[in-house]
Amino acid sequence: MTTVNVSDRPAHDLKADALVLATVETAGKAALAAGHGLPRGAATHVAAQLAALQATGSAEEVLTIAGVPGVAAARVVLTGLGKGTSRTTSFDHEVLRRAAGAAVRSLKNAARVALALPTTGAESVAAVAEGAALGAYRYAGVRGPSAKAGKGVTAITVLTSDARLKPVKAAATRAAVLADAKAYARDLVNTPPNKLFPQSFADSVKARNTAASAKVTVKVLDEVALEKGGFGGIVGVGQGSVNPPRMVTLTWNPPKAKGSVALVGKGITFDSGGLNLKPATGMLTMKSDMAGAAAVAATVFAAAELGLPVKVTGYLCLAENMPSGTAQRPSDVVTMRNGTTVEILDTDAEGRMVLGDGICLAGEGNPDAIVDIATLTGAQMVALGARVAGIMANDDAFRDRVRAAADVAGEASWPMPLPTDLRSQLDSGVADLAHKGERWGGMLTAGLFLQEFVTEGTPWAHVDIAGPSYNDGSAWGYTPKGATGYGVGTLLSLVEDYAG
Ligand code: BES
Ligand code: MN
Ligand code: ZN
Repeated sequence: MTTVNVSDRPAHDLKADALVLATVETAGKAALAAGHGLPRGAATHVAAQLAALQATGSAEEVLTIAGVPGVAAARVVLTGLGKGTSRTTSFDHEVLRRAAGAAVRSLKNAARVALALPTTGAESVAAVAEGAALGAYRYAGVRGPSAKAGKGVTAITVLTSDARLKPVKAAATRAAVLADAKAYARDLVNTPPNKLFPQSFADSVKARNTAASAKVTVKVLDEVALEKGGFGGIVGVGQGSVNPPRMVTLTWNPPKAKGSVALVGKGITFDSGGLNLKPATGMLTMKSDMAGAAAVAATVFAAAELGLPVKVTGYLCLAENMPSGTAQRPSDVVTMRNGTTVEILDTDAEGRMVLGDGICLAGEGNPDAIVDIATLTGAQMVALGARVAGIMANDDAFRDRVRAAADVAGEASWPMPLPTDLRSQLDSGVADLAHKGERWGGMLTAGLFLQEFVTEGTPWAHVDIAGPSYNDGSAWGYTPKGATGYGVGTLLSLVEDYAG
């Protein structure tokens, strides 16, 4: 885990491997942003370098210079904040997060990093700390014995004159916990699907819990228990694979809890489509089809680590969707946990089947609210693109509450409707429910399907993260290639909202 500290020492004195400073874009040219605290000679030197390099100070611009006179750190990294002046002290938190992240992400062989960006109070310090810690993430991969790992960032120091204030210190702690949680979610998603299948996912959760002194209660239902328990959705999806399904329940139940939140995650460790096999290109990123479950697991551990006074129960609906002689068929009818029967129409619409069972189980615990998070539909990406999640709910106020949590976390999202007009598309001639509707509005009919498994009166929201969970393109801001960890920030902020 990367450590995160705050300090009010002058930036130029710190013996870090790299010192990160910000630039702003003023009349198309870069200027050193506020908060650097450099002596005049050093600041003049940096300004001359910026001019010589024709820096612009735009967002995502990262430049490294070495040997700045009067600065102890060997390297100075300049990261752009975009439009502003050298006197601007207040910046959007997501702008700070991304700039800090892009700078730290650019570093090679730097263990100790200090950042002196413009901040005003605990929340902006938190943004810099989070961005930096998230930008430090590297996926180790699966490598042979001859591979040598580069030195990663191990210690982050955020410089601020407020370093002695309690909320500022707490922000640093929280940033470290959040980044560690997102790193765990990213690692799970990046792990190849021959290494991460339902049982090994469950094992990973148990191991992480043990390593963090077992604050969380972990229960695992195996395929026999699932069959017995009437979880027909998850059993059906998992029956084609040699790696049987699991339902993992994680409970953080602190004394004097101020409320209870249930989190349900789609955990398809590989989605081949089943008998309705996906084309080759569509299968390429489908190891990431458990990103919802990864976000849920990481959030429950983070809530426990921070000691948040809210009961949080995570449900990981784990299965591998594979074609085989034992695989589910289109036209099969299965009985879900709550007794509802579903006619399978397309085995590639497997996510809603495992989630339906998970939402039923979550409801049995009578939580104050349920949030499910899932890489559920390609239609989400058609509607909102690769970076913006769709949020649907049975209650507008609760949907707005989840959206607000996403905004605080810097995770882009947008509200989507659940039109009652579309519900008739889920009528079936042979079962209680058909398991998909027409192509158009596929994200919404998937949401309507899930709503069928929510207990009346329980606020419920559904977050479709098909796009934002996995970055197919190049890295940006604090977001690496591959798994993004999307959802951990939203869910943790929501739990904190319940904590008050
Ligand atoms: N896991 C996919 C959705 C997905 C697609 C996630 C692309 C991330 C990127 C899901 O299980 C799926 O296959 N959905 C189908 C549903 C359809 C058959 C109703 C889809 O969206 O095409
Ligand atoms: Mn699918
Ligand atoms: Zn899927």
